[in-house]
Amino acid sequence: MTSPPVVMVMAAIILTLCSAPASAADPELVARGKYVFGAAGGCACHTPPDALGLNAGGMKFELLFGVVYSRNITPDPETGIGRWTDAQVTDAIRRGERPDGSRLFPIHPYEYFASIADDETRALVAYLKSVKPIKAPVPARSLKIPIPMIRVGPALKEAPRGGPERGEYLAKGAAHCAECHTPRRIGGSQDATKFLAGGPGPEGSLPANITSHLDTGIGRWTEAQIARFLRTGVKPSGQAAFSLMQVVIKGTSAGYKDLTEADAAAIAQYIKTVPAIENRVR
Ligand code: HEC
Repeated sequence: MTSPPVVMVMAAIILTLCSAPASAADPELVARGKYVFGAAGGCACHTPPDALGLNAGGMKFELLFGVVYSRNITPDPETGIGRWTDAQVTDAIRRGERPDGSRLFPIHPYEYFASIADDETRALVAYLKSVKPIKAPVPARSLKIPIPMIRVGPALKEAPRGGPERGEYLAKGAAHCAECHTPRRIGGSQDATKFLAGGPGPEGSLPANITSHLDTGIGRWTEAQIARFLRTGVKPSGQAAFSLMQVVIKGTSAGYKDLTEADAAAIAQYIKTVPAIENRVR
């Protein structure tokens, strides 16, 4: 199946009735949104190294099934999301649904972003709309297969504010650890029997086994060491994070490095509760 060319998609968006442009959003809401953006690794796929600027998109993903590009998610009205209502941006982030009725290829991790709570999504959308619009068209995708359908549940109204449930909420939501750290089956679905046990990941990366397995995972790391790694990129061995892990820690305008100590500790606490799986990755 082919998807409509970008021009048509854009025309459809332009014809869609939209809300008035965002009036100066509440600075506190925008700041909270930037924090959520950082907890999502700075949505780094939308700012590849050669992008024109923050969120301008254009990162190419060559998959077995075709080619997709990360989209321009700046508030530019023509090439970005400037004409989308908050509800439309929310549906794209959490459900992979675009205003023109087309669906995003699930390389956009809505499987995880679906659980970003309503309050934090509202903040995230306000932040996305607050950054500089950049006019940067992105090439149309070309896929040899229909877009796989992934069912997602409803999100919480309010994000947990603290405690272990905050850690699980972040790891399984905005921070999408499992997107990279859980290997996939041939068809593309995640192999739940290897939850967080590492293996071949996105873009040819090789994410580590981060279960508590003593020899093949991070069972010897303390909670404090995991938390420190998320905020600094430094491992207990002194080695620095590399590959995609470095990308999400550093982020863009924000990244995991900006997690509060409490949130990093909560994620570490949750990671420690994940059952140990023996899986040697490297
Ligand atoms: C975009 C993909 C991606 C995401 C998202 C991601 N990681 Fe990683 N992670 C990697 C890759 C690739 C590596 C291997 C590179 C390295 O060890 O620095 C890695 C390495 C690690 C390591 C080092 C393990 C070791 O044995 O050295 C830890 C710990 C870790 N990740 C934890 C997490 C946690 C916790 C999250 C969610 C909060 C997360 N990662 C999200 C890709 C990712």
